[in-house]
Amino acid sequence: MNRNQYNVLLILIMVLCFLGCVTNKKSGSQMEVMKEISVDQRVDSLLAKMTLEEKVGQMNLYNGFWDVTGPTPQGGSAKLKYEHLKKGWVGAMLNIRGVENVKEVQRIAVEETRLGIPLLIGFDVIHGYKTLSPIPLAESASWDLEAIRNSARVAATEASAAGINWTFAPMVDISRDPRWGRVMEGGGEDPYLGSKIAKARVLGFQGNDLTKNNTIAACAKHFAAYGFSEAGKEYNTVDIGTSTLYNTVLPPFKAAADSGVKTFMNSFNELNGVPVTGSEFLQRDILKGAWDFDGFVVSDWASINEIIFWGHAKDKRQAAIIAARAGSDLDMEGHVYIQELVQLVQEGVVQESIIDDAVRRILKVKFELGLFDNPYTYCDETNEKENIGHTKHHEAVLDVAKKSIVLLKNQGNLLPLQKEGQKIALIGPLAADKNSPLGSWRIASDDHTAVSVLEGMQQYTGNTLTHHKGVELVVGNTAFIEEVQINTTNRTGIDEAVAAAQTVDVVVMVLGEHGFQSGEGRSRTHLDLPGLQQELLEAVYAVNQNIVLVLNNGRPLAIEWATEHIPAIVEGWQLGTQSGNAIAQVLYGDYNPSGKLPMTFPRNVGQIPIYYNYKSTGRPVDTNDNVFWSHYTDVDNTPLYPFGHGLSYTTFQYSNFKVHGTEFKIGDTIKVTVDVTNTGDYDGKEVVQLYIRDLFGSITRPVRELKGFELVSLKKGETKTIEFKLSNKELGFFNNQGEYIVEAGDFEVFVGGSSITSLQSSFTLK
Ligand code: BGC
Repeated sequence: MNRNQYNVLLILIMVLCFLGCVTNKKSGSQMEVMKEISVDQRVDSLLAKMTLEEKVGQMNLYNGFWDVTGPTPQGGSAKLKYEHLKKGWVGAMLNIRGVENVKEVQRIAVEETRLGIPLLIGFDVIHGYKTLSPIPLAESASWDLEAIRNSARVAATEASAAGINWTFAPMVDISRDPRWGRVMEGGGEDPYLGSKIAKARVLGFQGNDLTKNNTIAACAKHFAAYGFSEAGKEYNTVDIGTSTLYNTVLPPFKAAADSGVKTFMNSFNELNGVPVTGSEFLQRDILKGAWDFDGFVVSDWASINEIIFWGHAKDKRQAAIIAARAGSDLDMEGHVYIQELVQLVQEGVVQESIIDDAVRRILKVKFELGLFDNPYTYCDETNEKENIGHTKHHEAVLDVAKKSIVLLKNQGNLLPLQKEGQKIALIGPLAADKNSPLGSWRIASDDHTAVSVLEGMQQYTGNTLTHHKGVELVVGNTAFIEEVQINTTNRTGIDEAVAAAQTVDVVVMVLGEHGFQSGEGRSRTHLDLPGLQQELLEAVYAVNQNIVLVLNNGRPLAIEWATEHIPAIVEGWQLGTQSGNAIAQVLYGDYNPSGKLPMTFPRNVGQIPIYYNYKSTGRPVDTNDNVFWSHYTDVDNTPLYPFGHGLSYTTFQYSNFKVHGTEFKIGDTIKVTVDVTNTGDYDGKEVVQLYIRDLFGSITRPVRELKGFELVSLKKGETKTIEFKLSNKELGFFNNQGEYIVEAGDFEVFVGGSSITSLQSSFTLK
């Protein structure tokens, strides 16, 4: 549509709206269109007034003045940033928080610059602001989309009350490699589950009206394929084929875009030889082209500069050209655009239309947030005082924390614990720790504010509880944040713990990783229990085998010995502020666990990458010679715990599994039903999962693919019929040209409580 047609349409709509108002029959859709057009018009008219310097200024995102979430940039003094702010050369800031601080930078932008354009205020609100939910990987184990959405809502409510209008979340990177520390930040290994979670988180942050002062713009990151960093090593090369890119990596990003996410962040990795910050293919062809995304793309922290270190640009000037042409709209703390772009446009090297497109996208989000109507909409001190840390937020994060816990093993029904008359020894370096459960990415929360497992268990007073660390945490400091290790040399506490274990009925051991042992920059090659914890576990086991092991960790761990020996294992992740209460309620049976693993647990590091939706290979089974088939000679092919695994204190029985028909045409909707009965002694919840296998494809298909799930509550003895629908959306895949296709052929369908369920049926698609 050209400008004249646009104006005619606008006038027409205004007349229609006027008539609607007069007749009191204004339709919602008329108003919608009106609102849309007026944002675009407002953007255009502002853009027309801007100098080139002011436009490039909008593409500049500076870090604030105290929190740092990346390497400190050169030449980024606070003084220079203030000067740029006053000139209108800053479009957004990150790591400024608290109403007073935000108000001050916003005031400079709005009241001291020529055009008074308000700032976006970004922050990593990853799993809460001050009141923390479980780390995202843990929350994903709930498979409870409503709870996940609500947790993002709580995070947005607190962050917005502190002046923040934009979160760098959700991270929707799929990863199959628990060596990569950032798996704690995502939804796990599966694109289907990951897509549902991406949507829930976007809707939670953004709500249904972005102009409200408690909704904030979300950011789908890191676009794309960061989770496939080679060998799980942080910031590494990524080399994957088209099929993995389209079928595994991109779906959660597409789901975020379809859910209306306002921004995307690119990433530090290269993809098939091109640093993704400079990838036209990802940002222009796919995101802004095929997907028609109309928000903006922010670079990751100085990732435009990193194009140079990757060896793809010789200097900042060339990095700026590559990134701008590729569609990276906003430069996060790289200082590259602000230094290079004006001149590049003046020389005609970068077209001004590229700048205009980027600035239009950035301004649009600012208008959509309502910042032009009231730049201080997020700056209300009363709101800040009342909302941050509100009791109802503590209730909400406790709720999602309980839902995130996964019961991995419960031999002999050791759990739940009896509430009275028991002697219990609580052992482990993490048992009384109030910091680690907060997890990584909790910049605005106060240190040491989580409820510890000890505190949670002390709420139950009917038993005798003693506490023994066994081994200590060793706390050091790096330039950024507290670095923590678990003791590797000091054995002095082990004897005391063993002596205590000898005299009790049950031992509860809290072991795993400290919260700062996973997260950004924390790749690891050993995934067993760090430090002396394995030694402690075995020493205690030698005197008392009645052990409940509570794991605290930000990623799958390789705990094969524990799985073989310890009767009860509870995956307690890093569950945020209410961690210890959630764990204690599960241990004592006041909450019946229903979490399911969103990532496969390996037997050892050598099995990685290990994931449930692998390909068959040409030699999938042992044909009696024991050698020439796809396997390792020293470890089984199966994982320690499969994707989708998780037990309950009750039991569930599946029956009447039916695919309603045997032959279907492409495009048909296929109905699948199954009855699930609670056959145990407790009310409970089960995540009923549906997987398919497309037996033959023009591109080989995984042995199983999750294509549906439902979280169902069942009272003792109750049966419910669960219905799934399969149609083109579930039955197709992307070919190597990136086209979505559905092929005729034979399919298997599996239903059950984990990815290794054996309940199977089939159908043919003609
Ligand atoms: C991370 C991003 C984060 C940014 C800002 C980077 O190091 O990769 O995920 O949003 O810092 O803190």
